[in-house]
Amino acid sequence: MMRRRKGCRCSDFGMLAVVLFLNMLLTTATVVTVQDEEEKVVPGEVKVKVGVVFDLDSVFGEMSLSCISMALDDLYSSRSYYKTRIVLHSIDSNDTVVDAAAAALELIKKEEVQAIIGPTSSMQANFIINIGDKAEVPIISFSATRPSLTSHRSSFFFRAAQNDSSQVKAIGAIVKTFKWRQVVPIHSDNEFGEGIIPYLIDALQEVDTDVPYQSKISASARDEQIIDELNNLMKMPTRVFVVHMAPHHASRLFTKAKEIGMMKRGYVWIITDAIANLLDLIDPSVLEAMQGVVGIKTYVPRSKGLDSFKHDWRKRFQSYYPRRKEEDIPEVDVFGLWAYDAAWALAMAVEKAGTDNLRYTSTNITASKMNSTNYLYTLGVNQNGQKLRDAFSNLKFRGLAGEFSLIDGQLQSSLFEIVNVNGNGRRNVGFWSAESGLRRKVEESERSAKGLRSIIWPGERIVTPKGWEIPTNGKKLRIGVPVKHGFREFVSVIRDPKTNATIDVGGYCIDVFKAVIETLPYKVDYEFVPANPNFSYNELTYQVFLGKFDAVVGDITIRANRSSYLDYTLPFTESGVAMVVPMKNSKKTNAWVFLKPLTRDLWFVTAFFFVFVAFVIWILEHRVNEQFRGSPLDQLCTSLWYSFSTMVFAHREVTLNNLTRVVVVVWLFVVLIITQSYTASLASLLTVQDLKPTVTDINQLLKNGDNIGYQDGSFVYEILKSLKFHDSQLKSYESPKEMHQLFTRGSINGGISAALDEIPYIKLFLAMYCSQYTTTEPTYKADGFGFGFPIGSPLVPHISRRILEVTESERMKKIEEKWFKTLKECTASKVAELSSTRLSINSFWALFLITGVASLCSVAFYVGKFLYDERTRWQNVQSPIGERLYKLVGEFMKRDQRAHPLRRRISINGVPFNPQAIVASDDDHPRRD
Ligand SMILES: *[C@@H]1O[C@H](CO)[C@@H](O)[C@H](O)[C@H]1NC(C)=O
Ligand SMILES: *[C@@H]1O[C@H](CO)[C@@H](O)[C@H](O)[C@H]1NC(C)=O
Ligand SMILES: *[C@@H]1O[C@H](CO)[C@@H](O)[C@H](O)[C@H]1NC(C)=O
Ligand SMILES: *[C@@H]1O[C@H](CO)[C@@H](O)[C@H](O)[C@H]1NC(C)=O
Ligand SMILES: *[C@@H]1O[C@H](CO)[C@@H](O)[C@H](O)[C@H]1NC(C)=O
Ligand SMILES: *[C@@H]1O[C@H](CO)[C@@H](O)[C@H](O)[C@H]1NC(C)=O
Repeated sequence: MMRRRKGCRCSDFGMLAVVLFLNMLLTTATVVTVQDEEEKVVPGEVKVKVGVVFDLDSVFGEMSLSCISMALDDLYSSRSYYKTRIVLHSIDSNDTVVDAAAAALELIKKEEVQAIIGPTSSMQANFIINIGDKAEVPIISFSATRPSLTSHRSSFFFRAAQNDSSQVKAIGAIVKTFKWRQVVPIHSDNEFGEGIIPYLIDALQEVDTDVPYQSKISASARDEQIIDELNNLMKMPTRVFVVHMAPHHASRLFTKAKEIGMMKRGYVWIITDAIANLLDLIDPSVLEAMQGVVGIKTYVPRSKGLDSFKHDWRKRFQSYYPRRKEEDIPEVDVFGLWAYDAAWALAMAVEKAGTDNLRYTSTNITASKMNSTNYLYTLGVNQNGQKLRDAFSNLKFRGLAGEFSLIDGQLQSSLFEIVNVNGNGRRNVGFWSAESGLRRKVEESERSAKGLRSIIWPGERIVTPKGWEIPTNGKKLRIGVPVKHGFREFVSVIRDPKTNATIDVGGYCIDVFKAVIETLPYKVDYEFVPANPNFSYNELTYQVFLGKFDAVVGDITIRANRSSYLDYTLPFTESGVAMVVPMKNSKKTNAWVFLKPLTRDLWFVTAFFFVFVAFVIWILEHRVNEQFRGSPLDQLCTSLWYSFSTMVFAHREVTLNNLTRVVVVVWLFVVLIITQSYTASLASLLTVQDLKPTVTDINQLLKNGDNIGYQDGSFVYEILKSLKFHDSQLKSYESPKEMHQLFTRGSINGGISAALDEIPYIKLFLAMYCSQYTTTEPTYKADGFGFGFPIGSPLVPHISRRILEVTESERMKKIEEKWFKTLKECTASKVAELSSTRLSINSFWALFLITGVASLCSVAFYVGKFLYDERTRWQNVQSPIGERLYKLVGEFMKRDQRAHPLRRRISINGVPFNPQAIVASDDDHPRRD
């Protein structure tokens, strides 16, 4: 073909003028009448009739027809050796289905055409395809793009164009790239518009995108209807629209969309190739409204042939339609190129198929229909049809619109161009092909960047719209909150008692929600709407499903049965259901409780040390202190008396030996510490109760037929029912106070023995009555509290993400502290109580060690000194060792004669003793003997 174009250009202007003149004659003749045409046939060439069914009275029709004519001219002028010459018989289908069908019938029946090019639209194509199949006349359309046309399975139908469904993957790829979760298709309310929808939905599902709604707009819709529909769309959260309709129809849509403010920032509009391929035909004023629109356009590879075709296009077009001014002539679009290629291919196929038999034979018709005048009954069969079909379907050549090769009777898509409507025209932002997805450059190479160039979105924005919005148009989100009577720390609705107007909504859940909304990067307007207080939580969530609320916020547990009405965010509290039971004091008052503070070991060690200290003091004192003298029994009693009286610091004997004083001081310190610890420990033992849960197993309750409590309206009721509790056993409460009252009454008096509730409530309850109740381990799973939104709400993933952020932050701690302050105090005091355990030797061994060491040192020193003083006695080697030892012990038992008299000054019963008298009575006999 390029060779042909070159040849054409090389020819001089005179030649060109002649050709053009001939073309003009030929085509005007074609369009006007068929009869003129027949007279012009050159001898030696076989004329082959080909029908054309078009909406001729439109720019599209004119462009297509002129392209077909140009193709034939170009082909026959470059291949003058061809034996066949196609003669076109065109009939206007006048934009209606019936006219198109009639035209096709007339062409087949009357003209016995070999093939038909057309029709324009998919709707017109249905009938014509069937006729073509019956009469074996190939039907070649380059503009009927509805995918399902191939479902006629007619081997005589060819589509010299891409079907609409070939682009849906490109749309899916774009949607995936920008992570839009929901897309609303807007299409015309006819076969053409609806044809793409199943394929589009499939493609979107493949990229996990929802189609929450499809908007159908009739081609004949009045402006108000379009505006109504657009307003409808505006109220929905989705902001991504895929428009698939005829260009003139889309022009009205976009003009209205611009008017009501849907071409602003935040919106995404994607147009299919049905519009994007014909952007040049769209009025500049409409283009102004379409700024930021993204389109999928068939990519036509550049080639020299195409360039020169485009170069000559206006002039040649004007030669066919002289009344059009050159400025009015639109650029040739891809449909024109397909028309050109189709005509070119057809001419080649006709030449290949030969001209042996160009007649039609009449078909076998049943006798009953023999006399009918209806065309359809008496349709003949094209004898050359099958040959022509085979020749056509096997053609392969490089056409103006790229490679021309038919698979399954249709052109295959290879590459789409992604365009962005910008200024007066369009801007290429990338390419898409099934093999390599989206890419920036047309050449497919390893290095070529993936994705798209930056797109200027509606509202002149570079930032990618997030694809959804909380439908604003002045509306705030209506957030339902449960009205609670108890547990108001979670949600509390404060009403004006007079007017019933809601003054404030507060509580832990509300604060968490506010914190989460604040962290969202965009503003969400909302108002809290207290729900009907009679609603259970299930009913409340159902209200969202019914559309009464845009969300529910509160202590709403995430439950499977509720999730069919709602989409939950992630939970923001602990989860689980546990049992609360009262604790009873298991300790019986005990006469031996005074022994409890110290362990047995410690008692023994302490007792031992009292005796030990008594012994030490006797050793140190009895030789020097009058009070420690007397009969051995007296000495023993005095020593023990002295030692044990230190327990209450009531020892009265004066100690005279300095070593004793050292020992006694150390010992008194030890005694002080032990008695103090004992007192403290005993005090706590006597006051703190030994608390144990009354019930540990829920089955125990079932067996005993005890009552169990649950919070009013909570799903816990369902759990209890599933456990086969009888209704008479179930008591509901609304507040911690009521719960406590039920517990105090007890199961026998219509109260409860245990209560089943969710962890957050239990924590609050335990905080209020912390010493009286306890909880079991969570026994039933529940997923904690979450916020509920309508199914498919785009807010859910955003809010869930923020909930994670908030719950991990300091902010959450502050909110918890604000509402559950008492909780901490309670756990702290519990810990203190629990620590009052018995005192053991471990806490005191150091003290005993010190006493022991101090005492032993003193004794050793004292005994050493005694031995030194009495060395004459035990060093006397003459007497036997037993005797010496006996004497030494005897000496040790006696009073120390050398002790200074003053040392021995004592007072008995508070009366000072006369030192003289002491000196006088300083004999071997103890005074009290
Ligand atoms: C085309 O159709 C319109 C109505 O749809 C009709 O008024 C007009 O006469 C038709 N033209 C031709 C040439 O059939
Ligand atoms: C027409 O019908 C006759 C008998 O019904 C049959 O013999 C003949 O083969 C048929 N011809 C064609 C072309 O189908
Ligand atoms: C068809 O017309 C012929 C003559 O006009 C007549 O003899 C024959 O009965 C008609 N056949 C039917 C089925 O009407
Ligand atoms: C439409 O075209 C694509 C590729 O061009 C092809 O894979 C698909 O089968 C076609 N769809 C129908 C319904 O013919
Ligand atoms: C306030 O609401 C309660 C129940 O919600 C209702 O019983 C009462 O009549 C209302 N009072 C007013 C003044 O509307
Ligand atoms: C709640 O229920 C009570 C009794 O069942 C009814 O009288 C009252 O009107 C209800 N309140 C609302 C707001 O529906």
